[in-house]
Amino acid sequence: MSKAIDGFSKLNKQQKIEWLTQQFAPDPGATACDFEQWQHPDPGVQKIIDGFTENTISNYTLPYSIAPNFMINGRVYAVPMVIEESSVVAAASSAAKFWFDRGGFHAEVLGTVKLGQVHFRWVGDPGKLKALFPGIRERLIAGSEDLTANMRQRGGGIRDIELLDFTHAEPCYYQIRASFETCNSMGANFINSVLERFGDTLEQYMTECDDLSDAERDVDIIMAILSNYTPGCVVRAWVETPIASFEALARQQGMDAAALAERFAAAVRIAAIDPYRATTHNKGIFNGIDAVILATGNDFRAIEACGHTYACRDGQYRSLSRCTIENGIFRFELEIPLAIGTVGGLTALHPLAKRSLELLGSPDTPELMCIVASVGLAQNFAAVRSLVTTGIQQGHMKMHLTNILHHLGASDEECAAAQFHFQKQTVSFSAVRAFIDSRRVSPEGTSVRP
Ligand code: MEV
Repeated sequence: MSKAIDGFSKLNKQQKIEWLTQQFAPDPGATACDFEQWQHPDPGVQKIIDGFTENTISNYTLPYSIAPNFMINGRVYAVPMVIEESSVVAAASSAAKFWFDRGGFHAEVLGTVKLGQVHFRWVGDPGKLKALFPGIRERLIAGSEDLTANMRQRGGGIRDIELLDFTHAEPCYYQIRASFETCNSMGANFINSVLERFGDTLEQYMTECDDLSDAERDVDIIMAILSNYTPGCVVRAWVETPIASFEALARQQGMDAAALAERFAAAVRIAAIDPYRATTHNKGIFNGIDAVILATGNDFRAIEACGHTYACRDGQYRSLSRCTIENGIFRFELEIPLAIGTVGGLTALHPLAKRSLELLGSPDTPELMCIVASVGLAQNFAAVRSLVTTGIQQGHMKMHLTNILHHLGASDEECAAAQFHFQKQTVSFSAVRAFIDSRRVSPEGTSVRP
């Protein structure tokens, strides 16, 4: 294909599938059939899903799982998780159970402030602009009152507006940085609408300002958009217990409790020292966080982007969690920015996101922040616990084996035999296939692979 297609978005779904499969699929009929098969059987539901994005031709299914036994601030939750990676839900559930008997997870929201920016260029004396800013600020607030009325009624709205001078870094470049409280909504649309209004109001203010020359009345609004970096919208989750409560776990590994706790703490310290380890360590945290964020209809890209920036807030990328052992008490904590919501956006539209929130007891945003952070901490605890004891491959390979067996269409009997055989053998796709094939050879010696 050497010519761009015009009007792809205007084609109906059937036509899109037809064009796509004819142009790009090795087996157009079978591919089209798969795309059609994964549509939701209820056209009403499918219409809702199609409304989330553009050019939809099918649905991409991910597993929806539950990690039970999460005790957080004294309340018990069964947490919905949407993730395709094996072992993650099992690990979260196991960590939740471990801490259930040790006081559970504790979490507190440290702040809920969200941020937005208007980036603009202005040619003139920076001192003059700064002197005008109190008046500009007033006009920005007044000029967006219609947009902020509802949010103000709910206790939110604009919290602060400041002018930042970046002319040392880029000629004539300034920024209006505004902070917002968006209550239970993630607030992206609200913030972006207000910021765009700020841009218009600023232009108007400068045009009408008597204290400026004609040249100074000209302001160039480059862009107005929220910042996904929200270091003021942060939650802290932690667990703590006397190290003696690691006794049983340590015994299984032939260690004593203090040695195990110290080994765990050392692994967390390593993730604070070395960015290569920190990245993997934090990936483990996001395994849990993203899964709950997805299940509750929140924006996992925003959460990831922000979390990784926060992880290098002192100039080096480090672990988001930390571990201390003081006076025989093991404490493991995670501090992470989570700009999320429990109303609006997909939370109300996606049928399963709505159910997830109901299952969690219809939390407000601070409560959901506590839940999400606790799951991230649980995930991190489970990963590091495995890493410093058995290694993660043991658990991972067990799940991997199940996936390979499914892929090979193994019968219940073949699965049971393989699970037994691979207790002591290394799992790989070819080894599992060879094992299954060896059991499927007919008496005449020919393969009976289905
Ligand atoms: C795998 O998805 C996540 C881990 O690599 C996290 C970690 O190493 O801490 C197990």
